[in-house]
Amino acid sequence: MASVAIFIADPKMSKGHNMALREEIDKGSMCDEIVGSSGALQKVLSLVSKVAPTDATVLVTGETGTGKELVARAIHRRSHRSSRAFVCVNCAAVPRDLIASELFGHEKGSFTGALQRRLGRFELAEGGTIFLDEVGELPLGTQIALLRVLQEHEFERVGGTRSIRTNVRVIAATNRNLQVAIQAGTFRSDLFYRLNVFPIDMPPLRERREDIPVLVEYFVDDCARKVGKNIQGITKESLDLLRSYPWPGNIRELHNVIERSVIMCETKNFSVDKTSLSWLAQQPLATEPKIPLDLSEKLADHEIA
Ligand SMILES: Nc1ncnc2c1ncn2[C@@H]1O[C@H](COP(=O)(O)OP(=O)(O)OP(=O)(O)O)[C@@H](O)[C@H]1O
Ligand SMILES: [Mg+2]
Repeated sequence: MASVAIFIADPKMSKGHNMALREEIDKGSMCDEIVGSSGALQKVLSLVSKVAPTDATVLVTGETGTGKELVARAIHRRSHRSSRAFVCVNCAAVPRDLIASELFGHEKGSFTGALQRRLGRFELAEGGTIFLDEVGELPLGTQIALLRVLQEHEFERVGGTRSIRTNVRVIAATNRNLQVAIQAGTFRSDLFYRLNVFPIDMPPLRERREDIPVLVEYFVDDCARKVGKNIQGITKESLDLLRSYPWPGNIRELHNVIERSVIMCETKNFSVDKTSLSWLAQQPLATEPKIPLDLSEKLADHEIA
C-alpha cells in the first residue's frame, strides 16, 4: 500500500508513534473484501460506487464493528486517488493536545518537545485520502482548522505562519450521534454540514441477518486456512444460533467469535463456541433476557441443547 511506504520511511518518528503506525500497516494488509448480499448492504455498495470517483467528502456513520473503515477503504480503492496514500487517523486515540500537530504537523520549537519539524497526516496523505475515524472526538479548535481545510483546501502547521495548500480527500466516520454532540456544544454544526455532504449509514448486522450465513462461511474459511484446519461444514444448530444472536458488536464480534470457535473446533464440522458470545454471557442467569419472545425461545433451545 502506498501509505505503508510513507509511514515506514519517516525515521524521525518516536517509538510510540511507530507502534501505532505498525498497527495501521497490519490492518491495511488485511483482506478488504466486503461480503454480503442483503438489500441494506447493496444500498451501501451502490452509494460507494457512486461517490468513489468524485472528490466529495463522505461521512460514514454506524454502530461499532459495522464496517465503516472497510467502506472508507473501498471508496479510496475505487477512486482516482487509489495509487496514492490512504492515511487513517483515529481522532479518539490521539491525546487532545497533540491532535492538531498529528493532523497538520508542527514547526521546530513550536511547543516543548517539538525538537524538529514534523509533517502531519494531511501532508502525508497529499494526493490521496485521509480517513478521520471517530471525528466526533476532535477538540473544537481542531474542528475549526478542519473546516478550513474542507472549505479552502489549506492549513498551517502548528507554530507555522505559512499556509499550505492541500489536495486530500476527506472521509470521516463516527459511531456517535453528531446531532446530540451539536446540541451539547461539543461539535460545530458548520463542520457537520460540511462533512455530511455525502452520508453513508452502515446498517447494524441484526438488521441484515441475511448476510450472516455468507459472512460465517467467509470467516470460517479464512480462519481455518490461517490456523491450518480443514473445516468442511457447519452444524445447523450453530448456524441457527449465529442467525438469531443480536450481535451488539456487529461484524467485528462475528469475526472474533468465529476465529475463537475455529481454534476450539476439533471436528470437520464447525460448531460455535457459545462462551464467546458476549451478549449471552452478560445476561444475568436468574432474570428473563430483555429480547423479543421468539428470539429468547430460540436462544433458550440452543442453550439446553
Ligand atoms: N461486509 C463485510 N464483509 C467482510 N468483513 C467485514 C464486513 N464488514 C466488516 N467487516 C470486518 O469487520 C471488522 C470491523 O470492520 P470495521 O473496522 O470497518 O468496522 P468499524 O465500523 O470501523 O468499527 P469501529 O466503529 O469499532 O471502528 C473488520 O475486520 C472488517 O474487515
Ligand atoms: Mg473503525
